[in-house]
Amino acid sequence: MDVIRVGIIGTGGISRAHHHAYQKAGGFEIVAVCDILPDKALQAAQEWNLPKARAFTSLDQMLMSVDIDTVSVCTYNQAHKQPTVTALQAGKHVFCEKPMAATLADATEMVKTAKSSGKILQIGIHSTFSSDIQFARQLFDDGVLGDIYYAETTATRRRGIPGHTFIYQKTAGAGAVVDIGIYNLHNALYVMGYPKPIRVSAITADYIAHQDPRWHEMDVEEFGAAWIRFDNGAVLLFKVSWAVHQNSLGGSYFLGRDAGISLIGEWTGGGLVVYADSLTEQIQNLAQANNYGVETEVGDKGWFDQEMVDIKFSGLPEVDVWKAQMEAFGRAVRSGSPAPIPPEGVVLTNVIMDGIFRSQACGQEVIVEVPNF
Ligand SMILES: NC(=O)c1ccc[n+]([C@@H]2O[C@H](COP(=O)([O-])OP(=O)(O)OC[C@H]3O[C@@H](n4cnc5c(N)ncnc54)[C@H](O)[C@@H]3O)[C@@H](O)[C@H]2O)c1
Repeated sequence: MDVIRVGIIGTGGISRAHHHAYQKAGGFEIVAVCDILPDKALQAAQEWNLPKARAFTSLDQMLMSVDIDTVSVCTYNQAHKQPTVTALQAGKHVFCEKPMAATLADATEMVKTAKSSGKILQIGIHSTFSSDIQFARQLFDDGVLGDIYYAETTATRRRGIPGHTFIYQKTAGAGAVVDIGIYNLHNALYVMGYPKPIRVSAITADYIAHQDPRWHEMDVEEFGAAWIRFDNGAVLLFKVSWAVHQNSLGGSYFLGRDAGISLIGEWTGGGLVVYADSLTEQIQNLAQANNYGVETEVGDKGWFDQEMVDIKFSGLPEVDVWKAQMEAFGRAVRSGSPAPIPPEGVVLTNVIMDGIFRSQACGQEVIVEVPNF
């Protein structure tokens, strides 16, 4: 395959980022666009130098009329499932924006269809490609951390309600939890090796938005926090806000039996610190394999005068995560290898999000179940 021929469905804000990232990654050509609003489809076609005939209002028409290898799903969350399932069933690979879907039922159907079609389904969680997250996962896979028994992950916007289609159930499905929370939730699960969630206790809130006339119509949450238990005994505390009376809900960190990790300013590279009793050869070898430098500081010796070290790494690159995710998608499409971020892993975020909203509704902990694929 010389060039991967892409059809974009949903030509709103994020489709521009897809167009730009495909160009940076190279090896892709956008050959058609589709939006239910004809003017938006035509405008995108014009911007990207496509003939008017390559602007569609129906995905079926687009798939029938143009030779396409992959589809970029850039519709709002409530409209992720149908185009994804239709494109997979038509034999196309799919790159779908985050979150995977607005509901667990939609996400489950998407993964099942990807598996039965044998096509790639990649979800656009770009921050997973940052050097911090990738190195954290390597430290886990290599056994440096030992079993992770507890983690926290947070994303704070003191004020940052996005408005637009993001604040309505009918388009977005939910608010801060699925919009920006998805990155933290997915990346924490990824670093922890995708443990299986079994119980969720959560709160969501929307008090601040409703004090502001601009957001009176908003019917999704501005804040969410959840205590998530996994079948391996581990717990994850997850907190996210679009609006909150606080500067920070805390950082993101992982406690392993043998070492811990904190991620400071995550997703930009260089913010990862390992906390251990000593700098082991294993850690040094792993850093060396990545061409990262290692710097240690002797940590607080604590009450019993025990040696401990804080281990920092230099040389973690600031990855262009948008370009990286499209490059990884392109490699998978060309080589026929599985999606670089497995959809069976991403669907766990939908399992948890479903638990969060059910827990808020009933005011107690709920059992969550991972679908069988
Ligand atoms: N990765 C990121 O950094 C990032 C940033 C912003 C948004 N997003 C995600 O991208 C998605 C879209 O966000 P946006 O800001 O572009 O939204 P948007 O509302 O600007 O655009 C969505 C477009 O999809 C079209 N559409 C809806 N249903 C359709 C259908 N069935 N067929 C064809 N077109 C349809 C709408 O008419 C609209 O033009 C959301 O899922 C959002 O979570 C990701």
